[in-house]
Amino acid sequence: MKNSLLIEGGYPLNGRVRVSGAKNAGLVLLVASIMADGETILDNLPRICDVEVMVKILNDVGVNARWNEDGSLSICPPQGHVKVQTSYELSKKLRASNLFLGALLGREREAVVSLPGGCDIGSRPMDLHIKGIQALGSEVEIEHGFIYARAKAPAGARIYLDFPSVGATENIMMMAVKTPGQSIIENAAKEPEIVDLANFLNSMGARVRGAGTDLIKIEGVNELRAGRYAIIPDRIEAGTYMIAAAISQGDVLVENVIPTHLHPIVAKLQETGAMVEETDDGVRVRGGKRVNPVDIKTLPYPGFPTDMQSQMMALLSLAEGSSVIVENVFENRFQIVDELKRMGANIKVEGHTAVIKGVTTLYGARVKATDLRAGAALVLSGLAARGETIIEDAIHIFRGYEKISEKLCQLGAKVK
Ligand code: UD1
Repeated sequence: MKNSLLIEGGYPLNGRVRVSGAKNAGLVLLVASIMADGETILDNLPRICDVEVMVKILNDVGVNARWNEDGSLSICPPQGHVKVQTSYELSKKLRASNLFLGALLGREREAVVSLPGGCDIGSRPMDLHIKGIQALGSEVEIEHGFIYARAKAPAGARIYLDFPSVGATENIMMMAVKTPGQSIIENAAKEPEIVDLANFLNSMGARVRGAGTDLIKIEGVNELRAGRYAIIPDRIEAGTYMIAAAISQGDVLVENVIPTHLHPIVAKLQETGAMVEETDDGVRVRGGKRVNPVDIKTLPYPGFPTDMQSQMMALLSLAEGSSVIVENVFENRFQIVDELKRMGANIKVEGHTAVIKGVTTLYGARVKATDLRAGAALVLSGLAARGETIIEDAIHIFRGYEKISEKLCQLGAKVK
């Protein structure tokens, strides 16, 4: 059963775990690399399914991307042109393939990317991406499920985003760094992955200022030169192991983290009663017998991340009292609820709000990972549950967590 995870619950996790590079930063940096002249080398890129799909898309458009023996990845765009259309077959496996829109426009002044359909966690429109690239001078047509964009006279512009979309901010940044003149993104996303993209682009000679605030200013340049760059650690993977420590009543040092990126998660974890301590090597989390109920609202960074919502729900299922979670970022991110209920959780959902009445015990069951973070939450529940949990469709989990079974087993979990 290669697509399943089997977890025997009830073992407290103890020891150290090293966090891999950030999936969401890695994906956008891979795409941005096509704009550089020469060979880019990315370090700390996680070897997860989503990254492997992105590597295939790069190769498909004519960019030579290959893993090196030291674990880094080299990306060599050709001297001439790359293919401006991404493959539908590959793109449909990976929503982040829509980031080729900005990078191809930056490099080739033309892009044809597949329009994302609905997905497991809700509708994923691209209106803000399109508004941004149009403002920078692209003509856009949508036909047969593809976005056709061509920039005949690209020019810097001021763009206000109605919502601080991560993907839209990234696409606009990538096009703008190679667009003549000054571009300004107002109400930009502030996620650490946006800052990593800006740092990466600047290391190539781009002129991006203000990333990490809601106003990003970009001066277009003609050329970007390739170099070597290490991706930031994955704050969501870190948060997931922090909850693993808390839910299993264990004691885990989560290493290779940037503590400020974890503050929204740490704050809420501490409210649940877990002991969280920043050390020189990382963040140490100790879980106690009691979990306090906590209310959570997901919001763009620095609010509580939607990508940690399901994992937190798993922990709050075992709280002494009722918690309320409001999901403000994605419309359909409560699919985990039915699976958690199969394990004995008591959760009611009304629209964007979930009310979680804590229970004393979760029981192992056969459950299904409906999306990446829901899958991670089921792993966490399985660690705390009495008996055996079998998670089907675990491929969703492998999309975003590098060596998850190995890492958990090293901490004393029983996972196969
Ligand atoms: C990225 C992350 C994802 C994370 C999300 C929010 C990657 C590869 N994925 O996804 O893990 O959960 O940020 O932190 O980095 N929206 C629009 N119009 C648009 C674009 C977005 O209405 O043009 C809406 C979406 O429907 C959603 C919200 O904005 O409700 C947030 O989406 P966005 O920030 O764009 O997320 P992604 O970049 O897709």
